[in-house]
Formats: sequence, structure tokens, C-alpha cells
Amino acid sequence: MKILVIIKSKYRQNTLKIAEAMAEAVPITICDVSEAENFDLNHYDIVGIGSGIYYGKFGKDIFEFVTNHLDDLSNVFVFSTSGKGKPENNDEILDYLNLNCKNVLGSFTCKGLCKWFIFGLVGGIAKGHPNEKDYEAAQAFIRQVLEKYNSSKAEI
Ligand SMILES: Cc1cc2nc3c(=O)[nH]c(=O)nc-3n(C[C@H](O)[C@H](O)[C@H](O)COP(=O)(O)O)c2cc1C
Repeated sequence: MKILVIIKSKYRQNTLKIAEAMAEAVPITICDVSEAENFDLNHYDIVGIGSGIYYGKFGKDIFEFVTNHLDDLSNVFVFSTSGKGKPENNDEILDYLNLNCKNVLGSFTCKGLCKWFIFGLVGGIAKGHPNEKDYEAAQAFIRQVLEKYNSSKAEI
């Protein structure tokens, strides 16, 4: 079972920390979106797409990567970190993947410290995140992703 996780984590590496927590639970290769062109997506059973949320959205370049490599993506999951930790931040990319008939194996989100702009004046929001509970939740999530992948393979 080969899993590649592509991330955009430009602000405080909060999303990278979540990917690293997942990698402690199951074997995962993590790469930054800027290096993702070096990987052949067809070599991986599952591809995860993770991003910090910037102005309500996944990073523009990671979304572009997904649109440009749609044919090479089959089994995917998505995750994000954000100041508010809203699950609906993942909706745009989820809708896009579902619309293009990809096997979406799950969606995960959690809070990530944000001291950007006016939030810095109050010492930031989502202080202390991601924390131990977030890492545990991310690990439970990735195990579920694997279970869902295995049961979808068994159905074929
Ligand atoms: C330019 C910028 C815009 C942001 N916009 C949002 C936003 O719209 N909603 C939100 O909840 N958090 C927002 N945040 C907070 C980040 O989503 C949060 O800190 C996230 O964990 C960053 O992930 P990263 O460290 O992996 O880049 C923003 C942060 C920055 C720097």
C-alpha cells in the first residue's frame, strides 16, 4: 500500500505537522506541492491533498495541481488546518473531486494557530493548535481512510 500526501503549508507548517502525525500511524510519503511534479501519482494507491486555509480556500497552487493531474488521481482524501477549523473549508475541493468521479476516502480538518493580520493583536486564534488531540484525530482519520480503501477494493 503506497500513500502520497501532497501539502501546501506555507504559513506556520501546521498542515505539515498534521501530515507528519498521520505518517506516524501509517507509512506515508509527504511532499510539498512545489515538488509534487517529481512524483508519479500512478505509483501510489492513495493520494492525500492537504492545505492551510488562506482567505477561505485551499492554496491556489495545490488546487491547480489537482485540476492538472485529475487523470492520475483515483483514490483521494483531503485535509486542512485553519484558524477557525471549519470543515466546510474542504467543500470546494471535495465537490470538485466528487464531480469528477474520484473515490473520495474522507475529509479531515482541525484548527491551526493563526496570528495573521488582526488576529495577531490578540495573540492569535486557535492558540496551541494543532495539539495532541488534533494529532490523535488525524491518526484515527488516516486509519479510517485505509479501511475505506480496503473495503472499496474488496467490493470490486
Ligand atoms: C494569509 C492568510 C489567510 C488566512 N485565511 C484564513 C481564513 O480565511 N480562515 C481561517 O479559518 N484561517 C485563515 N488563516 C489561518 C490559517 O488557515 C491557519 O493558520 C493554518 O493552520 C495555516 O496552515 P499552514 O501553517 O499549514 O500554512 C489564514 C492565514 C494566513 C496567513
